[in-house]
Amino acid sequence: MQTITTAAALRTVLSNQSGSVAFVPTMGALHDGHMALIAAAVASHDIVVASIFVNPTQFNESADLDAYPRTPEADADLLKAHGCNVLYLPEVKDVYPEGTGKSLTSTLGFGSLTARMEGANRPGHFDGVAQVVSRLLEIVQPDTLVMGQKDYQQVAVVRSMISQLGLRVELLVVPTVREVSGLAMSSRNRRLSIPETVAAAAINRHLSAVVAGLAAGWPARELEGMAFREIGTHPLLRPEYIEICDGDTLLPYQDGAPVREIVVATAVHCGPVRLIDNRLFAPSLAEEVNP
Ligand code: PAF
Repeated sequence: MQTITTAAALRTVLSNQSGSVAFVPTMGALHDGHMALIAAAVASHDIVVASIFVNPTQFNESADLDAYPRTPEADADLLKAHGCNVLYLPEVKDVYPEGTGKSLTSTLGFGSLTARMEGANRPGHFDGVAQVVSRLLEIVQPDTLVMGQKDYQQVAVVRSMISQLGLRVELLVVPTVREVSGLAMSSRNRRLSIPETVAAAAINRHLSAVVAGLAAGWPARELEGMAFREIGTHPLLRPEYIEICDGDTLLPYQDGAPVREIVVATAVHCGPVRLIDNRLFAPSLAEEVNP
């Protein structure tokens, strides 16, 4: 695996290669969830490029940016062991040579996709995500961009950005990888204490209960209220939202509406960490997607 720190050097290396390129953007602190993205990329492409870049423009709180775990040596070892060919590990000035101010908000609109959930609770976050992903795509120029279902709203925003900018890149979405306890893998999990880690496993159990409720035809708003209240009874958990939305528009799901996919998404504070997770349900099949 080659580690490259500048966009110019990356372009030189990639332009000398032939074959299909898959790109896995990350912020490091890699875990098995990221390795599932690498595995999906390796399985379907000739060259796999991963980036590790803790993007300052998508953090609303500087404390969260400062506390974001950084483990570049261990990350590089993991990527190499899983068959990644090129690691792009840039400095901020290489990604943003003209400064971080240039935003895509003036040219792109995400409408209902960013109105709720993470969009409502983290102002500017998705502008930062769109900004960095569009810049990374400009640098790497992959055939396929590989992202995780855990950040469902992020995937919806990136899909919209690709379509609005007319970019020629496929988007491959990989199902969420969970701990044995059911807790969705996340770089932020390593900031949880043992009791918090145990408590956080309850989040997925409540999402399961909501999915079971949807399968049984229970009203969406009642299920949301019930899950929110029940998560809130746990002493170490503080729910921020739990929403049942149309997976395509990310607007609240209306009972009986003929949508392709329903997303049940939540953000829950646990100790110093804000965790997000989601599960998908296909009403036409009356079954969960990627269970
Ligand atoms: O999901 C992430 O880790 C980040 O939001 C991404 C896509 C790498 C952009 O910084």
